[in-house]
Amino acid sequence: MIKDQWYAVLSSHQVKNGKVTGARRFGEDIVFFRTASGELGCVGSACAHRGASLAKGCVKDKNIQCPFHGIEYDLTGRCVYVPSEGKGSVDDYSRFHMKHYHVCEAGGIVFVWYGDGEPVGEPDYFDVITDQGFAYDHVEDTWKVDYSRVIENQLDVSHLPFVHRTTIGRGNKTLCNGPKVIWLNDNTLQTSANNEVDEGQKPKSSEESIIKDTNLTFKFPNMWLNHVSDKIMILAFFIPVDDENSIIALRFYNKITGVKAVDRAIAWLGSRANKVVERQDKMIVETQLPKKTQLRMNETLVAADLPIIEYRAKREKLKGVRDQKK
Ligand code: FES
Ligand SMILES: [Fe+2]
Repeated sequence: MIKDQWYAVLSSHQVKNGKVTGARRFGEDIVFFRTASGELGCVGSACAHRGASLAKGCVKDKNIQCPFHGIEYDLTGRCVYVPSEGKGSVDDYSRFHMKHYHVCEAGGIVFVWYGDGEPVGEPDYFDVITDQGFAYDHVEDTWKVDYSRVIENQLDVSHLPFVHRTTIGRGNKTLCNGPKVIWLNDNTLQTSANNEVDEGQKPKSSEESIIKDTNLTFKFPNMWLNHVSDKIMILAFFIPVDDENSIIALRFYNKITGVKAVDRAIAWLGSRANKVVERQDKMIVETQLPKKTQLRMNETLVAADLPIIEYRAKREKLKGVRDQKK
């Protein structure tokens, strides 16, 4: 994990007003809760009193109430009420305060600040998520690997004609030109598949290759966009559950007709297609060992792996930058 980052970790629709949603993220059990008026809080799951899970609790006014003995915590995890001590208690309850996670939302996605201190800056995301012109549909799936494996799979251009030979990789284009990798800014890398049928020609180098209109962009720490065309985009965020599990959240965005109801139906169909492709990936990636990647591993890489190397190198640098700050 890269610390001191905003991670996309949940779809906003998964925490309804007045409800609690338990989840595992960053190897920790945590709880999201939303007040009746829509404010979102996020705290550790195990109640400070005797460890019951707040995931089974409920929202009371602006607080989350533990289901065991009714202790209440506010949106920042501060203990505000211990029923057994009575409403008249003037006791200092700071010993009960819970671990609290900073949260924010954009485009129906919940971002959590994963770091030790106060958040720095805003989450970096793709404009499509807040563009009201687009309709989208959301699906997700759990993979039994670290989220780094899922990210690297989405940057891998040479698996297409094999893993997806019946879907997006049809045509036996096994020879990979490049791929070209460019950095749009310090946080954002872009590449595109530029594959051809192998007729004995020499693959073009990365320098000779181009970024095509249909391209892949990745924003650290965990968001990806497949720009299919200006009217169709597939967004993914790779949710870190723990070292051996992750969730891939996939959204199909489109504005093909400009009529919301029709575009929504198209998005729904797009999600069905996304699921088929995603299952093809999952079946193979879940067999990769180890479950978590590092900059240098016991692998034998090829030129087509360049986007993966760029991703790993930057991730390493971001981890290092943080270590130097400590
Ligand atoms: S365990 Fe939560 S109030 Fe007792
Ligand atoms: Fe794939």
